[in-house]
Amino acid sequence: MAGELSLGGELSVNRLGFGAMRLTGEGIWGPPKDRKGALAVLRRAVELDVNFIDTADSYGPYVNEELIAEALFPYPRGLVIATKGGWNRPGPNQWTHDATPSHLRKAVEGSLRRLRLDRIDIYQLHIPDPVVSFDASVETLAELRNEGKIRLVALSNVTQEHIERARRIVPIVSVQNRYSFADREWDYVVNYCQQHGLGFIPWFPLGAGKVAGEVLSRIAEAHGASPTQIALCWLLKRSPIMLPIPGTSSVEHLEQNVAAASLRLNAEEFDELSEVPELVGSR
Ligand SMILES: NC(=O)c1ccc[n+]([C@@H]2O[C@H](COP(=O)([O-])OP(=O)(O)OC[C@H]3O[C@@H](n4cnc5c(N)ncnc54)[C@H](OP(=O)(O)O)[C@@H]3O)[C@@H](O)[C@H]2O)c1
Repeated sequence: MAGELSLGGELSVNRLGFGAMRLTGEGIWGPPKDRKGALAVLRRAVELDVNFIDTADSYGPYVNEELIAEALFPYPRGLVIATKGGWNRPGPNQWTHDATPSHLRKAVEGSLRRLRLDRIDIYQLHIPDPVVSFDASVETLAELRNEGKIRLVALSNVTQEHIERARRIVPIVSVQNRYSFADREWDYVVNYCQQHGLGFIPWFPLGAGKVAGEVLSRIAEAHGASPTQIALCWLLKRSPIMLPIPGTSSVEHLEQNVAAASLRLNAEEFDELSEVPELVGSR
């Protein structure tokens, strides 16, 4: 396995988690087509020692959190559920901001109820709201932490400046931004998190274009592995604070993804994959 990651010095999780977002209907809307299959994926994840599950109130909306509780409550010891709020869903594939203090308070109450928890282990601000003071959103999460409704506060879709501002208000334990070997806009945020002991949770960790696909396939073949597994391996090697959360609605894909934590890339393979964004840029 790929070892553990400490979150805020309070929680320790295995360094390959599960992103539950895909366990909803199309467009991340409504219930999954195969409800039994979705419950089976969640239960299998826990059997495979996955002890970090990422969700959000907006996945479904609400459906995803409810499914997690249905599949796994009462929760096994050590299972960490990280949810998010501040991004709402008026319809399929539509997302609207609301990180006002009043909405975040209501959102946390809703997540507590759906997840059947007294306290949420990790609560992530889903995305800064452009028309709400970022500090006011974070201050609200800090208050909810003081009230015992949230254990640890985290951020998603943020810049380094956001992280620094938030850390002046409340300890921040992780950052969740879009990132993969071929998608490195947030490299400097990964470096910042590593330097300051925050976890980094890459979303869309399997994302890859055509050039990336060619390099991936070649390295995967050499390992007798799948391209997806190699993309996950690269992330795990990129930094010890990296916590990938590949998402899937299939038990078979889940098993493959978890197995990636036992594969190892050599230095040349790692470097070759790291150079993909430059290769893409030069074409
Ligand atoms: N913070 C944010 O704003 C944000 C945004 C997006 C996502 N997220 C989080 O990040 C998690 C991961 O992101 P994601 O679901 O967008 O992307 P992802 O994990 O990169 O990709 C999921 C896609 O890859 C397929 N897949 C997964 N494992 C596979 C395998 N072994 N072989 C072949 N195909 C495979 C899945 O299809 P199958 O179902 O067919 O396997 C699905 O279509 C989400 O679940 C969510 O928790 C956060």
